[in-house]
Amino acid sequence: MNNEKVNKVNKSTEVDELSNDYPFSIVHKPIGRVDAVGKVTGKMIYAADFQFDNTTFASPVYSQYSHALIKNIDVSGALKVKGVITVLTAKDVPGSNLFGTEIKNQQIFARDKVRYYGDVVAMVIAETENIAREASEKVKVKYEPLDAVFNVREAMKKDAPKIHDDGNVAFEHRVRKGDIQEGFGEADIVLEREYKTQFVEHLYIEPESVSAKADWKGGVEIYGSIQNIFSARKTVSSALNISLNKVRIVQTPLGGSFGGKDEIMQALAARAAIAAIKTNRPCKIVYRREESIRESYKRHPYIIKYKIGAKKNGKLVALKVEIFADVGAYEATSPFVTWRSTVQCAGPYEIPNVHADVYGVYTNNTYTGAMRGFGSPQVNFAIESLIDELAEKLNISPLEIRIKNGYKDGSITTTGQVLDHKVSLMECLDKATRAINYHSKKREYMKFNKKSKVIKKGIGLACSYRGCSLGAEGKDYAGAILSIQSDGSVILSSGIAENGSGAQTVLSQIAAEVLGISMNRIRFLETDTSTTVDSGPTVASRGTLMGGNAVKKAAEYAKNTILNVASKILETSPDNLYLKDEKVISKTDSQIFITLDNVIEKCVKHNVQLCFFGWYTAPEVDWDKERGQGKAYFTYVYGCNIAEVEVDTETGKVKVTNFVSTHDVGRTINPQTAQGQIYGGVAMGLGYALLEEVEMNNGKIVNDNLDEYLIATAMDMPEITPIFVENPDIAGPFGAKSLGEPATEIVAPAIINAICNAIGRRIYELPANLEEVLLGKKLRKK
Ligand code: MOS
Repeated sequence: MNNEKVNKVNKSTEVDELSNDYPFSIVHKPIGRVDAVGKVTGKMIYAADFQFDNTTFASPVYSQYSHALIKNIDVSGALKVKGVITVLTAKDVPGSNLFGTEIKNQQIFARDKVRYYGDVVAMVIAETENIAREASEKVKVKYEPLDAVFNVREAMKKDAPKIHDDGNVAFEHRVRKGDIQEGFGEADIVLEREYKTQFVEHLYIEPESVSAKADWKGGVEIYGSIQNIFSARKTVSSALNISLNKVRIVQTPLGGSFGGKDEIMQALAARAAIAAIKTNRPCKIVYRREESIRESYKRHPYIIKYKIGAKKNGKLVALKVEIFADVGAYEATSPFVTWRSTVQCAGPYEIPNVHADVYGVYTNNTYTGAMRGFGSPQVNFAIESLIDELAEKLNISPLEIRIKNGYKDGSITTTGQVLDHKVSLMECLDKATRAINYHSKKREYMKFNKKSKVIKKGIGLACSYRGCSLGAEGKDYAGAILSIQSDGSVILSSGIAENGSGAQTVLSQIAAEVLGISMNRIRFLETDTSTTVDSGPTVASRGTLMGGNAVKKAAEYAKNTILNVASKILETSPDNLYLKDEKVISKTDSQIFITLDNVIEKCVKHNVQLCFFGWYTAPEVDWDKERGQGKAYFTYVYGCNIAEVEVDTETGKVKVTNFVSTHDVGRTINPQTAQGQIYGGVAMGLGYALLEEVEMNNGKIVNDNLDEYLIATAMDMPEITPIFVENPDIAGPFGAKSLGEPATEIVAPAIINAICNAIGRRIYELPANLEEVLLGKKLRKK
């Protein structure tokens, strides 16, 4: 079936759908979210609300050491507690106790060795949650403590304690572009700087929760707050040693995830499933906040070393990069996170000579993994700070240096890729600086700061490019099923999960637009491994781009069927018909039409197939690992953020007073949910810049609850102006690209650059908390 041609043809005017004049009905409109009522009325069933009849409850038993051998586990004390049903350990795992994305070195239950305080040694299963928790303290574990290491530099030393058998450098990535020696030879100025970033907690409002039940077919059914149900299924299947089709995982609505409910939920789902099979009763796990923070992975702390060379006129000629990422106890998605950092290490700047080495290093800290931005917030903070400082040294403006070096159409990236799409970085810079009155604000604050002693004001900008979707780090595909019922209602599903960003709404809008139907005809199914099609993980800001393309394909097949059937009734060619407002209408005479319901009635009567499957595979990418060169992603988004701040130089307190966030998203499918992404992204980025840090004391988390782990609240938020630049992308559904992660990835450097502009001193370490701003060095308890 070839529908590729049909989809480019517009309803009546033959306007290409990538054109800004395309007469959209549903897409590109601020349609209300399909899950809004359920959420605001409290009717939505979250994982903790969900319960199987006759369920048991579970409590984890955590490691008491950051690094130790397990000599003996004595569960007898716990078993004696009334109401305890069983206690699970690694011995109870019927299949593989190990799991992981690339290297399977993470444990469902720690067996011989613990590598961080969040390792789970055992799990008590009891009649109530309280009994389980009480009894979990009676599990006695004998350890032989090992030397531990908590810092990447120490961990890289030859004689450092080995966390895994193969040594502590888990992996490395590199870029070799041009000739770094030659590049620095041409430089008039060379700057060398080191930046540090912190551990950050996702702090999804809903802590981890999952329920599992054995079914009578020898499989399990699992409901949980799980970001990636297909990766969870893989782990459960290998842990139980049963085939994938015997594991059914249903995603309950996520109360936040931000990349965080992957590996940890794989482990929880497996533990609950093992319990369910062993006891022949359902098992439910609901974490407390302290457990969530203790066990879950964090955003990687980085040590970033940059050496940059430029000509007097500001032209960048060479960049040398060394990055050390703290991987913590287990690898998880670290190779992929740091690969993105590698590709984007030079920011959106065309530098002819780049040499980068990026190392992932094991420590006995909490392991690190995917978190909104996925490797870009760290390098964006560093490169955007560096570019600002370089501009200052060269006495040119931060804007000018970015205009001079920033990517334009046809630029060659750090990985040697020629940008063959519309490169909108300059447009983003232009729109953002105009919207905030960048130049006049800069002058105004300079004057203000001359007079004002205590309060200083500043403005700062940051920009970025970001590869859309998984890129050369993974296979990129997505599927969707669209099934028209006999009454004309539509069931739509995709393996793309609703992470809270509005994916179900946006994907429904795409189907509604293609079919010319209203949103309330469509019901979007819960993501379920048994009824929806594996569409890869819902990560990497790929939901709209990948899922949208799959949905669009399915809807276009449906549209072809409808037009074919209608063409027979209306006695005209299908090419002469279009779908709009629940009707099939003639392009030549709008008085000639038939209602969609009538067409569907006909289809039902004549047994016409009304279930459609859309499958989308992303355009080719390629990667040369040795040189770190290749087409890393098939397309990119561009953005510019500008922050204004007021700094109290007596207390170090920073108030962000205004924020403009500009992003080229290709096309907004829903401008309102897109704005939501920006508001949330700015809040998260602001926390990263000023407040957030998981304090790790010899591997033990000090601030393990919301009283001490501070995130931004409404009180901290400035006025935010979201601005969308729309250059529809050939690969995107209706031209749409990505926004979820771009929205947060350059917030921190914009704020940091604004602070530096205000106080006249650079900041090299996140977060810029009171101590950092006041004294420029850390006063933390170590
Ligand atoms: Mo995301 S941080 O790519 O789950």
